[in-house]
Amino acid sequence: MAFVCATRCHRRRALALILTVLALSAGRVGGEEFPSRPISLLVPFAAGGPTDTLGRILAEAIQVRLGRPVAIENVSGASGSVAMGRVAQATPDGYTIGIGHWGTNVLNGAIYDLPYDLVHDLTPVAMVANGPQIIAVSKDLPANNLKELIAWLKANPGKALAGTAGAGSAAHIGGVFFQYITGTQFKFVPYRGTGPAMTDLVAGRVDLMFDQASNSLPQVRNGKIKALAVTAKTRLSSAPNIPTVDEAGVTGLYVAVWHGIWAPKGTPNDIVSKLDAAIVGALADKALRRRFAELGQEVPTSEQQTPEGLAAFQHAEIERWWPVVKTANIRPE
Ligand code: MLT
Repeated sequence: MAFVCATRCHRRRALALILTVLALSAGRVGGEEFPSRPISLLVPFAAGGPTDTLGRILAEAIQVRLGRPVAIENVSGASGSVAMGRVAQATPDGYTIGIGHWGTNVLNGAIYDLPYDLVHDLTPVAMVANGPQIIAVSKDLPANNLKELIAWLKANPGKALAGTAGAGSAAHIGGVFFQYITGTQFKFVPYRGTGPAMTDLVAGRVDLMFDQASNSLPQVRNGKIKALAVTAKTRLSSAPNIPTVDEAGVTGLYVAVWHGIWAPKGTPNDIVSKLDAAIVGALADKALRRRFAELGQEVPTSEQQTPEGLAAFQHAEIERWWPVVKTANIRPE
């Protein structure tokens, strides 16, 4: 009798598993069309910062297209690696996704002993934005251009404070790159994101930041901080008065912080395609594109807005930056 029941239970469990896999591969979870409930979008840094700002703009636009709320959850810590770890460990059903960037999904892999694999434990969905950094200083700092900043830093070696979002964050690596090219020395002060770091730059508690344009431009526009250069070959259309690093005298200091969306490994293709379609629709929206432009963000190419496109871009960035970061021997604080 017990044997008969065990076999029957075994068959029933096998059948349930097959039906779940079939349902998942048909974009249905628990038999329901995806999405049938709210989606969590994990943001790896503090609220109010550049990644949070982009995440919220995107969440608003994709929830309209998915027909379900997309809720932001800020999970900061260890330069964003905690949040990406949460995404990597989440159920691969499309209801937990994360926004990441150059730091969280490339640089962190060369700095932290991550408990997950940045490439194999995460499913790329789409690249969503790309933008340069701004070399920003507090308004009372005795430097009004990049040459004066370098002279001031050289006159005060190791004294200045630069705000970052932790070791390996975009703000940190931008600063390390600047030190390397200019031969200057200053200290890095880690925050849970460049949102809180910006509060201290505005207050003059830190002296400079290598910050994403989306975070600095609003403060530059209201005169709370000074922008000395943009880390790109061309000026920002939304801030044509800020010189490029080449024009300002630090040739070749090009740093772009790109953002993407990832899901857990094993998320079914149908669900990834639905998420990607909603993102592509959102990125085509005129109002969103205007908002991104105001924040100094470029919308990626249509190829980059695909899972394969993001995977290829991330791979190329890993090839480029891991040797640089490893040579610089950057370690967690
Ligand atoms: C943030 O949102 O705080 C930034 O993306 C952090 C960083 O500079 O990496």
